[in-house]
Amino acid sequence: MGTSRIAGFYNLSIEKRLVQAAAAAQLTPDEISAWIAGGLNAESADHMIENAVGLHALPLGLGLNFQINGRDVLVPMAIEEPSVVAGASFMAKLARAGDGFQTTSSAPLMIGQMQVINLSNLQEAKFKLYEHKAELLAAADEVDPVLKKFGGGARDLEVHIFDKSPIGGFIVIHIIYDVRDAMGANAVNTACERLAPQVEAITGGKVHLRILSNLADRRLSRARCTIPVNELAFDNFSGEQVRDGIITAYAFAAVDPYRAATHNKGIMNGVDAVVIATGNDWRAIEAGAHAYAARSGNYTSLSTWGKDADGNLIGTLEMPMAVGIIGGATKVHPAARAAIKLMGISSASELAEIIVAVGLAQNMAALRALATEGIQRGHMTLHARQVAIAAGASGDMIEKLAAQLVVEKTVRIDRAEEILKSTARDF
Ligand code: MEV
Repeated sequence: MGTSRIAGFYNLSIEKRLVQAAAAAQLTPDEISAWIAGGLNAESADHMIENAVGLHALPLGLGLNFQINGRDVLVPMAIEEPSVVAGASFMAKLARAGDGFQTTSSAPLMIGQMQVINLSNLQEAKFKLYEHKAELLAAADEVDPVLKKFGGGARDLEVHIFDKSPIGGFIVIHIIYDVRDAMGANAVNTACERLAPQVEAITGGKVHLRILSNLADRRLSRARCTIPVNELAFDNFSGEQVRDGIITAYAFAAVDPYRAATHNKGIMNGVDAVVIATGNDWRAIEAGAHAYAARSGNYTSLSTWGKDADGNLIGTLEMPMAVGIIGGATKVHPAARAAIKLMGISSASELAEIIVAVGLAQNMAALRALATEGIQRGHMTLHARQVAIAAGASGDMIEKLAAQLVVEKTVRIDRAEEILKSTARDF
């Protein structure tokens, strides 16, 4: 992959943008056509879910300028909301001036949970389970020979006691499973189901639920960026003003859950777009993100913003990132396969780290706008295009009509229709 900085990409036609992307990642015409046509047909949809009646498409854009651990990467983003792709790309450009994003990940450990009820003594059951830990782990390890071949498998077992609940006391076993490049739900759920008879024999209790936890707090990815303070200046705002505005905005999210929810939603704008483009389970990622944000008991910001000794802006984001590059839709959805190939990645943790970097960039885009000119100006320019299309504009007329709506500061469908009608009369 060459550079992720493609000058003038925004102004190219979709066809020309595809040519550039194909050249950057050696995508074949078939792979490119998966993006144009959406990747799935009705027949494949029918094999994926029940009662299928068709497809539901989203725009796919490319996040530009990303440099992650020194490597340039073009990022596929599937999202319906204007401003997100542009915002992330612009912030990635600012981050490049400070060496881009530095990322790391924990091992890909997922947690499977088994709820054990009808126990006469919770403490005794817990100790007995630990006494049989080695044999339980050995049995769990056998569940997925393919994962095992690639170095995955059962790693640990923990027993948690809940002595007060609406039904009284019970215990919960956590099986910690290294799922390598898979999302891991299948392996973990199978392991939990497979171990149930053994657990019942050991404890004398009954195994009730057996399912993975979406609070994947053993499978974390992290991204950090440094933005040189002078890069932050624009219009009448100095770099210091923008930096301090971003830090003050972060402080709001750090202490107030009402703001933290919106702040984290901005992060998820970037995160989900890549998760969806790669065929991963965005509900799992959302569940994990928000549960992790509330891990202290107070729901708070997933990211942090501060400054370094030289006054440059420092951003960090750490969050669970249970994504895979093998199995499920990531493998069967042709558009998702092309998205993985575009990024030139060969492991789930590389994908996870790109996603977290995009989340951090997206968060910065929102905070920068909110802390300076407000969110509506940029939003409106892009929103105006959607209004123009909704009013019936096509071709060149979309941009012309959108520009007119912005100049008039009236981005409304009734005004767009009026302008369209009067333009049609002129011809
Ligand atoms: C809108 O989709 C996302 C923002 O509300 C995020 C934020 O407020 O930080 C702009």
